[in-house]
Amino acid sequence: MKPGQVRKAPEELRSHQWYGTEGLRSFSHRARTRQLGYLPEEHLGKPVIAILNTWSDINPCHVHLRDRAQAVKRGVWQAGGFPLEFPVSTLSETFQKPTPMLYRNLLAMETEELLRSYPVDGAVLMGGCDKSTPALLMGAASVDLPTVFVPAGPMLPGHWRGEILGSGTDMWKYWDDKRAGLIGDCEMTELESGLARSPGHCMTMGTASTLTAAAEALGVTVPGASSIPAVDSGHDRMAAASGLRIVELVHQDRKLSDILTADAFTDAVTTVLGLGGSTNAVIHLIAMAGRAGVRLTLDDFDRIARTVPVLANVRPGGQTYLMEDFHFAGGLPGFLSRITDLLHLDRPTVSYDSMREQLDGVRVHNDDVIRPRDKPVAHEGGVAVLRGNLCPDGAVIKHIAAEPHLLRHTGRAVVFDDYRSMQRTINDPELGITADTVLVLRGSGPKGGPGMPEYGMLPIPDHLLKQGVRDMVRISDARMSGTSYGTCVLHVAPESHVGGPLALVRTGDSITLDVEGRSLQLNVEDDELARRRAEWTPPAERYERGYGALYNEQITQADTGCDFEFLARPGKVRDPYAG
Ligand code: FES
Ligand code: MG
Repeated sequence: MKPGQVRKAPEELRSHQWYGTEGLRSFSHRARTRQLGYLPEEHLGKPVIAILNTWSDINPCHVHLRDRAQAVKRGVWQAGGFPLEFPVSTLSETFQKPTPMLYRNLLAMETEELLRSYPVDGAVLMGGCDKSTPALLMGAASVDLPTVFVPAGPMLPGHWRGEILGSGTDMWKYWDDKRAGLIGDCEMTELESGLARSPGHCMTMGTASTLTAAAEALGVTVPGASSIPAVDSGHDRMAAASGLRIVELVHQDRKLSDILTADAFTDAVTTVLGLGGSTNAVIHLIAMAGRAGVRLTLDDFDRIARTVPVLANVRPGGQTYLMEDFHFAGGLPGFLSRITDLLHLDRPTVSYDSMREQLDGVRVHNDDVIRPRDKPVAHEGGVAVLRGNLCPDGAVIKHIAAEPHLLRHTGRAVVFDDYRSMQRTINDPELGITADTVLVLRGSGPKGGPGMPEYGMLPIPDHLLKQGVRDMVRISDARMSGTSYGTCVLHVAPESHVGGPLALVRTGDSITLDVEGRSLQLNVEDDELARRRAEWTPPAERYERGYGALYNEQITQADTGCDFEFLARPGKVRDPYAG
């Protein structure tokens, strides 16, 4: 559609029910908008655009969004809309404990209820730090207004003594070097200033970059939005373009449900796998799809992974580059242009009537960053789904970030009941941990963690690090940071806290991991496992009151996306003015 081609009459707008009807309530809303300082001709009859902003002083990944919202507003005004900014809660991966995953569904609820209860015709969602993207989109999908997502953008690459540093990935690496005695306090102080040098989310292909890329692949951002560095002037222009676009979408009546189709989710899965993206995307995309009424399963990920090569040479899945390089190589449009045969191109996006049109004429500018099909980073997608008696409802592994020799491995388990005891005892020589040991951490799932903290990359014991060991097989019901790496089996479902088989493993048991065979097996006889189960007592619940108690009651397991049961449930909610 060309801008301005279709205009909604004022009475066709949802906000008309607040502003334009006869009676005291509309009069009051108009009077209160005068109180806000707006003239009637500035807003009456125009689409009201809610800008949901996850800016906060505590969130370094979103700290620039306070200013950036002004660019969105600029676009909205210019297109003839009426922008209103709503501050919503911030999910700072760095600071929020025990993990922002505990609060993803809370932001989703806030998003949904704000959009529903206020006079909103269309929404612009601003976020990018890990869980913000799924939270905002889950909530918005449940309301189903025209919606544009504005990704926060990656921070600039880190620098230290001539090295280019990647968020998270290099933090873990240098922390291990310090523990191995290779660098000291002086180097660490310098690294503190070098690792993260501008606003923006992690600039590796971590969870943030993976999920904002998924949003772009779904079609809910303007083209090319997801990789623009947060502090690039192009980010302002993208924000303004999103503001221009959302007003047109309202007039066009293109709702989120027109975009978030089953085909769109299949393409988003293809995208995250072909990017070698974060394992967290598995949980989030399943949850997002659920809100859009699309059934997406772990098996879909495994099936699609076998068909899509990893083409993004971006750390940690790739060897070399960071998000800024990916951006200049063509960004997500460039990447998508390499896999058009694997995509559904006849579906609409916020900008075009079809993804085919959106990708028309797109090129890749650097074949080492975005690889051609015949020179992939890996021949198969980066994530495999495992099954077996240790994970009847599945588990995932990002095998492209693992040491190849460990992908088929049998070893003696050393089991830790929770993260704290693991931290206390992992260096204890009594445990007899060798490079062949399988480290098992439980009590770290959706309920047990709580919130599945990113504990899944269990630390290598000091004595092994000093011998040069940098990877071991690790198994947990936790998640792992998208910037982490190693042979880490994650999201084991059901989790130990609810009595999944992980609860029954004992130190000394043998475990076999076979990634090619997609299996994870506890080599213990069934009758012995039944004996252990009979002896098992469920751990105490984590919360007696408050949000945690609601969380505990409602949270679903990793394989179904960790949404709340009452939010994931199908069914309509009445619009507040619907009689
Ligand atoms: Fe915000 Fe990594 S800490 S994206
Ligand atoms: Mg992260």
